[in-house]
Amino acid sequence: MATIRDVARLAGVSVATVSRVINQKDSVNSETAGQVLKAIEQLQYEPNAVARGLAGKKMGIIALILPDILNPFFPALARGVEDVAHKKGLTVILGNSDDLGLKESSYIKVLKKKYVDGFIIASNTIREEDVESLKREGIPVVLLDRGLNTATCPVIRSNNREGAKLALHHLMEQGCQRIAHIYGPQEFFTARERLLGYEEVVGELEGYSPSLMVSGNFDIESGRKAVEQLLARHPDVDGIFAGNDLMAVGALKALHERGIRVPEEVKVCGFDGIGLTEITEPELTTVAQPIYEMGGLAARILLDEIERGIRENTIIELDVTLIPRKSTQKEET
Ligand code: RIB
Repeated sequence: MATIRDVARLAGVSVATVSRVINQKDSVNSETAGQVLKAIEQLQYEPNAVARGLAGKKMGIIALILPDILNPFFPALARGVEDVAHKKGLTVILGNSDDLGLKESSYIKVLKKKYVDGFIIASNTIREEDVESLKREGIPVVLLDRGLNTATCPVIRSNNREGAKLALHHLMEQGCQRIAHIYGPQEFFTARERLLGYEEVVGELEGYSPSLMVSGNFDIESGRKAVEQLLARHPDVDGIFAGNDLMAVGALKALHERGIRVPEEVKVCGFDGIGLTEITEPELTTVAQPIYEMGGLAARILLDEIERGIRENTIIELDVTLIPRKSTQKEET
């Protein structure tokens, strides 16, 4: 393991200079700082947490790791984080994990070396030991949306199960009797909770059958394919609750391709509240998560711990809102 002396020797400077570069003291000129940083990278030097703690230096950088930046839900989440961090003069580094554990842990390892002050992670693969390890090194973590259901750190999410019930009751109020559910990947806590909410309500309907549930992958194409499977099994389905808006958009596409009229013949409701739902034809009813607020709250909680050492390991569930639009509109009698 390289030491600070090895770095100083390789860079041709004193140990004190290396320390000033690590702690971003302004008294080091850029050329020297560059030599030192190059030596640190070459030797993979990692100041230990004690040295870092002794330095007491905050870098003014937080890391945000998201699973799928192509899904509009996550950029909206990032916007909430970034607006709060920017107001406090902090920089946000964004990582896209693709929900892959190895990629996520690689991001955490590299960003730890860059001395980020804390992590906000929307993850389906993070484990309690990963969070505990960061906490032992004095690095705060806040989990967002998905993630652990045990509070080893603050967790911010919306009330997924109640949101699913909102969707079902709305479809039933609109007259639907055979309501299908396109559920997201069940390894995601959020998708499981929505499926549970669907199951808690749909049993009240005479027309209910387990074959009205079909899996999707939280993207448009899987929503389209899910409706193909559904219509083959249940051509008489009259309502569809999709576990997220992208799958609901795919459902609209599949129904349109078959000339099935929405909402006259089938009513469709999504979940998330992304902007896309306002421009589909017909406009999509959805259960809106407070996406921007979730991101902002996660950032405020993380900054409280970074700046004041305050951490409450609690799970905070924010309310969701049904936004009725034309895709579930009841015909005028
Ligand atoms: O659309 C992406 C989904 O994954 C959202 O519903 C969000 O809650 C996340 O879990």
